[in-house]
This record gives sequence, structure tokens and C-alpha cells, in this order.
Amino acid sequence: MITFGHTADGEEIKQVTLVNKHGVSVDIITLGATIRRFRVPIYDEEIRDIVLGFDELKHYLSDDHYLGCVVGRYANRIHKGRFTLGDEAYQLDINQAGNCLHGGSSGFNQRVWQVDSATGNELCLSLFSPDGDQGFPGNLTLGVTYSLSEDNRLTIKYKATSDKETLINPTQHSYFNLDGHNANSIEQHRLTVSSDHILDVDGDGIPNSQFISVAGRGFDFNQQKAIADALNANEPLIQHARGLDHNWCLKQKTKHEVSAYLTNATQDLELQVSTTMPGLQIYTGNFLPTHSHGKNNAVCAQYQGVCLETQFYPDSPNHSAFTTPTVRAGETFISETSYRVVVR
Ligand code: GAL
Repeated sequence: MITFGHTADGEEIKQVTLVNKHGVSVDIITLGATIRRFRVPIYDEEIRDIVLGFDELKHYLSDDHYLGCVVGRYANRIHKGRFTLGDEAYQLDINQAGNCLHGGSSGFNQRVWQVDSATGNELCLSLFSPDGDQGFPGNLTLGVTYSLSEDNRLTIKYKATSDKETLINPTQHSYFNLDGHNANSIEQHRLTVSSDHILDVDGDGIPNSQFISVAGRGFDFNQQKAIADALNANEPLIQHARGLDHNWCLKQKTKHEVSAYLTNATQDLELQVSTTMPGLQIYTGNFLPTHSHGKNNAVCAQYQGVCLETQFYPDSPNHSAFTTPTVRAGETFISETSYRVVVR
């Protein structure tokens, strides 16, 4: 464990490195429980860092594109920040286009997480979020455990408790680029997603309770295809979002099934995503700004990375057809997602 930096008010941000026997390593910082580096040895040729990130804390503190962090309490959007639980109506912080995005303007991505334990291949972090935080009810504690296995799988376990019924929908917001964080865009990466439907959304990304069949559409990733094929498809929803920013309804029945495979054009590296969550928001970094303060002065731009965000459906409390993830007093919410790398 090392010091990564200090916040303006002097709070220490730590960095912990998980490593396995194959030399795969993952650096996580306590600001936002953020994955800062995910390094994979490609035979004896190179060590490739496959997530976007920064070298300096100040860039994480001012980042509003959620690079590598854990998003909470509620990933994605809640329409007008309004929802009802039981008989109580709640108003959340509004931080994007009149809606609540990723838990509000002071989301979990900007919090300093506590290190509960750190061993060579496992890190347990936790965060306390008080009753009323960003408008959410209940004193909530969220635990996130990152563990790296010998089969090159980074597993993320989320565990939440609250003293009052509340919403909880955490996700991991890493931008992956399997050619390396400093390589070209992910447009020629190839993707497979086991899903027959996406959620229909309005121009601000709010669902309308309708499901769109992917059959014969740009959204269909049941057979592996280049992300560029979807970006260039004649799909008004994709054009409007300037890329992919939609929620795929996953078909998996168990956490062991792989729901999505991502591979680069040379196909020397594959990422396999497995999850207990019902949805996958695929976001191709449509609004990433062009700058050169990525790690090692890497240039960042639109489509530099792709997020594979496992989650419950967006705005679920406002749609009776969707499962709303809640935790009540005395209960424990758990979910699990893993990202496994396979060198080909
Ligand atoms: C994604 C979301 C996008 C955008 C992005 C952060 O999860 O779906 O619409 O807000 O986060 O820049």
C-alpha cells in the first residue's frame, strides 16, 4: 500500500496493488475505489495496461467521466431524480439534463473509501453514506471487494446494508482498451453480448419501459462483430448518443456464465465479463474530451475506451416492469461481477 496523493483538505489517497503469479496486476486507489491500472503481460513481449486513467490525483479529483471508479449509490439515471419507496417520495440531487446520474453530483466516485483489509490478491474497501446523502434514504454502508485470481479474473463483490429501505445499484466504470490505454480507439475491438433486447430510451437516456429486440439491428452482438459496425449502423438511438450508451438485457442465469466477450482487432487479448446483474450498459466513451494527461501523457479522445457496466436497469424504481434493487434494514444486498483477461 502506498500513498497516491492527498486531497485539498489533506486526506490521504492510498493505492493498493493486487498481483497474481502470472504477473497480472491491478492498481486501485481509495478515491472512488478506482481501478487505475490493469496490467497484463502479453507473453514476454510487453506489459499492457488496459484501462484508461491518470498519473496524478488532481485529474481524478476533477474528472467527470468516471474513469475506473465505482459508481453509487445508483448507477445510471433516475428520471428527474424522483422515486417512491413504500409511501415515501424522494428527491435526489439533479446533476445531468434534469436527471440524477450516477448517484448525484457528489457520488461514491468522489468519496475516499476506507481500506478494511489488503492482502496480495484481495482488497476490501468500504464507504459509509449517511441518511439523506444526495437525497437517498438510510444510513448505508457499501463494501467492495476486489480479488484477483490465478485464472486472471478480477472479481468485484458488492455488499450493502442500510438501517432503512433504500436503493442500491453500484457498478464499475472502467474504460477498457485492450490494445493499451495509450493505443488507438476501440472502434475495431470486437464484442459479443449474450442479449436479445436493449432498453428503449428517450434522448436523455431515460427508459420508457419498452424493450427493443436486437434482431437484425445494429444493437445485435449475439455474433461477434466490430464495435464500429454498431457505431456506423443506421440506428437513430446510436447516432443521437454519438455512440453506444445503451443497456443490454442479459440472458445469463448464473454468475459463472460469460455475458460479454471483448477482444481487440489483433485478437491477442480477450476480456470476459460475468455478472449476477441483469443489465449491461455499454458506453463507448462518446463524450470523452480530447486531452493528453492520461497515464504517461497518453492522449485521450472519443472512443478511447469502452465501459462494460453491469447494473440493474436504469431508472428502475419508476418502471414496474423492471426489478428495483433495494436493501431493507436487517438485509444485505450482494452482487458480483468479474472481468477475466485471456491472453491468446
Ligand atoms: C455512462 C453513462 C453515460 C455517461 C458516462 C459518464 O455510464 O451511460 O451516459 O454519463 O457514464 O460520462
